Amino acid sequence: MARGEIVLGCLAPHPPHLVYADNPEQNEPFSEGGWETLRWGYQRLARKLKDIDYDTIVIFTPHWQTYIGTHFLGLPNFKSLSVDPIFPNLFRYHYDLNVDVELAEAMRDAASDAGIITKMMRNPDFRVDYGTITSCHLLNPDWDKQIVTISSNRNRHYYSVEVMNEQATALGEACARAVELSGRKVVMVASHSLSHRHFVEEAPLPEDMSREHIYNHSQYVWDMKMVDLMRAGNMREVIDLMPEFTEQTMAETEGGGLTWMMAAMGYPDYNAEIYGYQSVIGTGNVIAAWDPNEQSREVVL
Ligand SMILES: [Fe+2]
Repeated sequence: MARGEIVLGCLAPHPPHLVYADNPEQNEPFSEGGWETLRWGYQRLARKLKDIDYDTIVIFTPHWQTYIGTHFLGLPNFKSLSVDPIFPNLFRYHYDLNVDVELAEAMRDAASDAGIITKMMRNPDFRVDYGTITSCHLLNPDWDKQIVTISSNRNRHYYSVEVMNEQATALGEACARAVELSGRKVVMVASHSLSHRHFVEEAPLPEDMSREHIYNHSQYVWDMKMVDLMRAGNMREVIDLMPEFTEQTMAETEGGGLTWMMAAMGYPDYNAEIYGYQSVIGTGNVIAAWDPNEQSREVVL
């Protein structure tokens, strides 16, 4: 069997607003649009993915929060209605997704061998989190690939951002070993925003773009610092800055997704492809990708 590999890494934020604004048939509410900078960026990245040969999307989500260990989806299919608890007016999405259980189990085993507490999710009534659904929908609206979802252990809350960073690193390295042995071609996805202070009151019309802007300037400056380092291909420094960035901007990196993905990909020293940056209810969101293949790697924005 050929060695497996990570063919692309994506930083894919998951505001339910983006699915709402797209009006896909799976989502019940109707919108008049909104957040086009992010949605058009996602559409461009989705087109790139169509040209890449891969088997499975492996996604790390901060909205499947586990307090004892790291969990992996462990049944071949999950189908239900996902309702966002904060925004039921925006997101009531009928999902039907297929899981690469063999790869999920291989990742679980590799993580367990590295000393990480793990568990497979085998409950057929388990409701998949909206982070997974939103990021996967926007990256691959056809849902024609198997996925693996990995939960985020709450190290940041039990201990500190530093412990989160170390645990997510160990998990990323374990997942990379599992991918290599599996023979799979994998797209990795860290599903989260950057800065994450947000408004606490919703506009009468959620997609009214005259109401949308970053929550505060210091949050914007931090986000741009991180995006500049991504552009420069300095991911080691991004991960080293992660504790400070996460503390100061309440960033959604606190779940460990970007740290996990960068550790798995060996801290890329080449430029990230930037597909767009925009605020959603005041949070900072960048869509970015790391393409290990020099031939297909681009400067997008
Ligand atoms: Fe989120």
